[in-house]
Amino acid sequence: MRILSGIQPSGKLHLGNYFGMMKPALALQAEGEVYLFIANYHALTTVTDPALLRRQTLDVALDFLACGLDPARTVFFRQSEIPEVTELSWLLSTVTPMGLLERCHSYKDKTARGIPATHALFAYPVLMAADILAYQSNVVPVGRDQKQHVEVTRDIATKFNNQFGPIFTIPTPSIRDDVAVVPGIDGQKMSKSYDNHIELFGTEKETRARVMRIVTDSTPLEAPKNPDACNVFALYRLLATPTQAGALADRYRAGGMGYGEAKKALFSVLWETLAPYRQRRQELEQDLAGVEAVLAQGAERARGAARKTLSAARLAMGLD
Ligand code: ADP
Ligand code: TRP
Repeated sequence: MRILSGIQPSGKLHLGNYFGMMKPALALQAEGEVYLFIANYHALTTVTDPALLRRQTLDVALDFLACGLDPARTVFFRQSEIPEVTELSWLLSTVTPMGLLERCHSYKDKTARGIPATHALFAYPVLMAADILAYQSNVVPVGRDQKQHVEVTRDIATKFNNQFGPIFTIPTPSIRDDVAVVPGIDGQKMSKSYDNHIELFGTEKETRARVMRIVTDSTPLEAPKNPDACNVFALYRLLATPTQAGALADRYRAGGMGYGEAKKALFSVLWETLAPYRQRRQELEQDLAGVEAVLAQGAERARGAARKTLSAARLAMGLD
């Protein structure tokens, strides 16, 4: 079973990215061959400063390695080192109906937020299909907001296979229901574009300040509270053990505990859980040549797989 996912280097990674995509993808390392890549071609749709793109690409690499990506098991690479993907994207675009892309929420959401309506932004899902299909991926772990893109990929692959022969494996999205949408500090979906995120590797001061700003309702301190309607508890539950979460839920229901106290409990479990990853990240920062070597080796392996698929697709279409 080949598992594949990617993430754009378009900003600092946050808890939504971690629980929605990174953690499930990294957990799958035990179950099959995982391909993980940094989607820097996709990031060009929003990041236009070259130095920033380079820095953010390196940050994502450090974040994944710090959080447990094992280069011995996982093929980890930069998307831009696999030019076959952009060629495949063109081949796929010839079977992609305009209507399919016009229906994509992500394009509509992004242009509504003022991101320039370029051809690349519109064609984004076709490049994503090429990413997935180039490696004959079976399973694509993503957060719920990316589900539509995987469905578009399935449509494109099916159309191509029907027209030119069985070249592509049809992928399935894998979405963990319990973490499908991690709330941000304002209760909406956590996203760097809403500036409601808590960074995975923010400073202690920033992280604490963000946790203390999480929006709660105005139930008085002494009154019983519903943990399942609380943004603080929603994040706590993701980080704590089931026993810890059960104990805090009991304190909510009993009354007499203010939200400030729940926030302190959240900060401390968050800070402690991430401590080993922070430590590892600092070590990796001292060995950037090692990080580069992992990405170069990953690119070489990924490229071999992509070349095979691309030449089969070219042959099927009469480009030999
Ligand atoms: P952002 O919304 O911050 O720009 P991205 O769209 O780059 O994040 O998402 C990268 C990955 O993280 C995707 O797989 C996405 O589904 C997942 N993800 C992002 N935010 C969340 C969230 N709040 N809850 C669950 N998964 C998320
Ligand atoms: N569009 C994804 C996101 O914004 C990133 C991505 C690009 C991706 N190509 C992919 C995810 C292929 C999974 C598979 O998060």
